Amino acid sequence: MSEASLSQEHHTFPPDPAFAAQANGTADLYAAADADYEAFWAQQARDRISWATDFEQTLDWSNAPFAKWFVGGTLNAAYNCVDRHVEAGNGDRVAIHFEGEPGDTRSITYAELQREVCKAANALESLGIGKGDTVAIYLPMIPEAAVAMLACARIGAPHSVVFGGFSADALNTRINDADSRLVITADGGYRRGAPSALKPAVDAAIAVGDNPVEKVLVVRRTGQEVAWDDSRDVWWHDVVDAASDQHEARPHDAEDPLFILYTSGTTGKPKGIFHTTGGYLTQVAYTNSVVHDVHPETDVYWCTADIGWVTGHSYIVYGPLANGATQLMYEGTPDTPHQGRWWELIEKYKVSILYTAPTAVRTFMKWGHDVPQKFDLSSLRLLGSVGEPINPEAWLWYRKWIGGDRCPIVDTWWQTETGAIMISPLPGVTTLEPGSAQKPVPGVSAQILDDEGQPFTEPEKVGYLVLTKPWPSMLRGIWGDPERYQQTYWSRFGPKYYFAGDGAKYDADGNIWLLGRVDDVMNVSGHRLSTAEIESALVSHPAVAEAAVVGASDETTGQAVAAFVILRSEAAADGGGPDIVQELRNHVAKEIGPIAKPRSIMVVTELPKTRSGKIMRRLLKDVAEGRAIGDVTTLADSSVMTLIKEGMASGAE
Ligand code: PRX
Repeated sequence: MSEASLSQEHHTFPPDPAFAAQANGTADLYAAADADYEAFWAQQARDRISWATDFEQTLDWSNAPFAKWFVGGTLNAAYNCVDRHVEAGNGDRVAIHFEGEPGDTRSITYAELQREVCKAANALESLGIGKGDTVAIYLPMIPEAAVAMLACARIGAPHSVVFGGFSADALNTRINDADSRLVITADGGYRRGAPSALKPAVDAAIAVGDNPVEKVLVVRRTGQEVAWDDSRDVWWHDVVDAASDQHEARPHDAEDPLFILYTSGTTGKPKGIFHTTGGYLTQVAYTNSVVHDVHPETDVYWCTADIGWVTGHSYIVYGPLANGATQLMYEGTPDTPHQGRWWELIEKYKVSILYTAPTAVRTFMKWGHDVPQKFDLSSLRLLGSVGEPINPEAWLWYRKWIGGDRCPIVDTWWQTETGAIMISPLPGVTTLEPGSAQKPVPGVSAQILDDEGQPFTEPEKVGYLVLTKPWPSMLRGIWGDPERYQQTYWSRFGPKYYFAGDGAKYDADGNIWLLGRVDDVMNVSGHRLSTAEIESALVSHPAVAEAAVVGASDETTGQAVAAFVILRSEAAADGGGPDIVQELRNHVAKEIGPIAKPRSIMVVTELPKTRSGKIMRRLLKDVAEGRAIGDVTTLADSSVMTLIKEGMASGAE
């Protein structure tokens, strides 16, 4: 079949009997969950997690939307992810095969991981961190990131991991919002073949104003020169290496916070999504087992996400480690030093399960299938996708050229807020429909509502995805802002429905298709960005009077940031021009991080607004996507769009 014709025909892929025979997920899970969903989750919790004290009540929803799962239960997440595997005699199993971008490697067994986590937990305590203190983690993709998270979990200190690609300003906001007294960072990491510094961003983040940071714990990764404050900075290798490798994992309440993770919402201020311990761990372990089909004795699992995103939390750290899996962790980029790096790693480590994002798949498509073809990918037996809709073309390419036409693909829909996979096929059970995440996993309930909030099931009609029952790994709130939690997720369609913010439809077979965000959140390369956040970064530049940002569709990254700015009169008088565009792009990178850099910035004299002053992003999207401009009748001044179009035609950026 030629690549062009791959997408022409409608294919579905029934489960391969050999795969089904060994699959962790089975069809009877659906019936069990439907029959008694609380009993179903109680059983998952008891089967998959080691509790210090059993729980008395599965779900307390009396104070909805503030849920309590596994009430009265106590457990230690780090014990579940590490110690119990050693106690079960699997201490020699590799937990993490680490491959640094320059090619340095480390394989860490569960017994070694236990010692590392214990030492780090002792070190944190020696730095004055205890239960309930939040710790900011700003690290590259190195094993210490997982060790630091688990050490925090062990002592009951919620971690707040900040993606290493975020700027000093973004880090500052997150440190302050979570009130973190300790930051764990590194001198730097390797990125695209060169060391890239991290610690200077921490120094800058805490140099401004009042902030809660007392200590900065620094991993030496690259050996580059770093500025040092003796009263505040400590080397990881000094305090962690010197600490005892014995540390008691005291039980924490099932509802004690495990972590905070910031994500973009519809306003400029990122939301600190927080998760608690028992329910989260239950659902990530369950889904990693039945969706990724991890068999810890035999599989080598690889999730390519960064630990700074929820995918890294749930499916690098907590899910696979709770299940005792062996996994690969890779520090660098897919094309360093060559475009076959991932495939080389799969061949080298005999990776059997690969979990990645559609944007990566589309990039590989662009590079051509002859790149993966040079490598032996026969160890692979399951592929996963996460972060954004995977178009059928990319799905079919992924299956053919990476999965050797034999691996099932699980397209997994979920969010930072949901904590774990919610909608996905079960490999070995579901007949796969390329491009659709298909069905809620057993134990999860979803519906699609129309504008009036009425559920419907007609195929091809577009509506809003909602979740209709609480689930164990659901967010417990927005850190410090319970009202915003209620208002953002539980008010759009009333208190019965969790509003996910995604458009969705059913097909004729009842499969759910996710259609992207319906709010002002963009999805660029599977990363969530808010239009408001980028707009406020732009207007914080002295040359900018007003800004509007839209997500324009992009062949590779799904969406790209397209910005429209009105310059202040002085700047406009200077001519604006290409220099200002470049300067503004860099300014956004500095304010938020390089991932937020607009692909295009167009200098305009007016923005399209309704009579009530609301920017009509829909029209700007038409411009950014090169489409005919839609209905302009509600504009206060309809000539604005003509001016913008003319600006486009004359080649303004
Ligand atoms: O729009 C959906 C999209 O990513 C959003 C959640 O982003 P974030 O919290 O950063 O978590 C990403 C990793 C779980 C969702 O609201 N999304 C995620 N997975 C899919 C998806 N859209 C379609 N299909 C998916 N499989």
